[in-house]
Amino acid sequence: MSSILETVELSFSYPGTNTEALHKLNLRIPEGKKTAICGHNGSGKSTLFLQAIGINSPASGQVLWKHAPLSYTSKELKQLRQQVGLVFQDPEQQLILNTPFEDVSYGLRNAGIAEVQIQQRTKEMLQTMRLEHLAHTPIHHLSLGQKKRVALAGVLVLEPELLLLDEPTAYLDRISEQQLVQELERIHKRGVTLVMATHDMNLAYSWADWILIMEKGQCIMEGTPYDIFSDPAAILGLGLDMPMLLDIWHALPAAIRQEKGMLPPRSVEEFKTLTQKIFA
Ligand SMILES: Nc1ncnc2c1ncn2[C@@H]1O[C@H](COP(=O)(O)OP(=O)(O)OP(=O)(O)O)[C@@H](O)[C@H]1O
Ligand SMILES: [Mg+2]
Repeated sequence: MSSILETVELSFSYPGTNTEALHKLNLRIPEGKKTAICGHNGSGKSTLFLQAIGINSPASGQVLWKHAPLSYTSKELKQLRQQVGLVFQDPEQQLILNTPFEDVSYGLRNAGIAEVQIQQRTKEMLQTMRLEHLAHTPIHHLSLGQKKRVALAGVLVLEPELLLLDEPTAYLDRISEQQLVQELERIHKRGVTLVMATHDMNLAYSWADWILIMEKGQCIMEGTPYDIFSDPAAILGLGLDMPMLLDIWHALPAAIRQEKGMLPPRSVEEFKTLTQKIFA
């Protein structure tokens, strides 16, 4: 599996602290996949993302973009950030302009896109994120979930090669989450590599095709959703939840599940189909 972004023995401490937020971290983001990064509060997920776009640089070790170490000159960082987009965990850190329309069009203008296209793409993206009625409302009048959707819109519209989403569904209601997942699907089909840091194990399980688990600044597990959740004791031992669908699936008698040789369901629809087969 070819990796688009990689860390090698990456260590980093924030200024004024004496603990390492990342400790000799070795991790690979597979190209063209949907990767979920899970781990409890403080395990280093956001710190990793800040390293990935060169906002912070390593104390030791390296970050590799397409197999080459990052260079921290402003020219190369600018190029890197045209290829790698990050949606911050906290939308307040991301939004700089006065209104959603201005904020979303800003990135496109920076990328040198023609004005007609900027207007068109901004409008479409605001519609996708259900923000058209707020397009010209001052950002400080928006709710947290609305701000998060503006922040997502501003990065999604740029369609970078690698999209890093830090807790993208935090603060979002059900409909906004579904719309986001649909939009990510569309972007992924166009070849964009997606990475999402999330506490939502249900989402990680159903959405990702590769999962990394972080703990104390290290990556301690990696694999497909089936691999990762095949050992519930290990997951619970890390203070993480099992996906609810898998919990229910495992509550069915093993003989039935195994007899039919079925892979566990990853969506409610799959669950319904499988149980109908079992009990038919
Ligand atoms: N700006 C900062 N200054 C000092 N220490 C920080 C700062 N940001 C994070 N840390 C520390 O770095 C470690 C990793 O934090 P990080 O924010 O990367 O975790 P996380 O996995 O993203 O957590 P969460 O799930 O809460 O978002 C923690 O111990 C945290 O206290
Ligand atoms: Mg975080």
